[in-house]
Amino acid sequence: MDTQTTGAASSRTDASSAGKGPTQGFLSDVATIRARARKHIEDGAVTENYDADRATVLKLLNEALATELVCVLRYRRHHFMAKGIHAEPIAAEFKVHADEEQAHADRIAARIVQLGGEPDFSPDGLSARSHSEYVAPNGLTDMIRENLIAERIAIESYREMIQYMGERDPTTRRILEEILAVEEEHADELADMLSKE
Ligand SMILES: [Fe+2]
Ligand SMILES: [Fe+2]
Repeated sequence: MDTQTTGAASSRTDASSAGKGPTQGFLSDVATIRARARKHIEDGAVTENYDADRATVLKLLNEALATELVCVLRYRRHHFMAKGIHAEPIAAEFKVHADEEQAHADRIAARIVQLGGEPDFSPDGLSARSHSEYVAPNGLTDMIRENLIAERIAIESYREMIQYMGERDPTTRRILEEILAVEEEHADELADMLSKE
């Protein structure tokens, strides 16, 4: 901390030495980092300086996985059931969303394994673990509305998870941020469809 404060202060007065102090302080730890990594090699991606509570992160990720899987099922059902004069492009879009939710589920499952956990794909209790619901109306407008509600729920829960991850687990945070950006696009497209109905 002290070297960082000094480094920052000197960079303000002497531009030529800016940044050198903190970098040197950082590099002297490489040997320690390597030794620690060797010691707990079986922990995979979870190293000793992993700051997050792993059990909490795994629980949150399994809830996100369940949410995505329910979204896959709901969008697929809506894709096959969408009928009516405006249905074709909307049904096609539901399929695109279903596939993107599946890709999210896969990324989350892979991250769970990286963190030493097990992805929960069990159909038992799937909808209870999920944040969003499986609602299967028959009218096109109701389908769009239900999907929009589910996306808004996903957006809110991803935002909260991202806040929790903060600096504790930057990799999980980045994955969730990328997924969140797609959920926002989904919500935007659905809101657009709804305004044209
Ligand atoms: Fe998703
Ligand atoms: Fe989505």
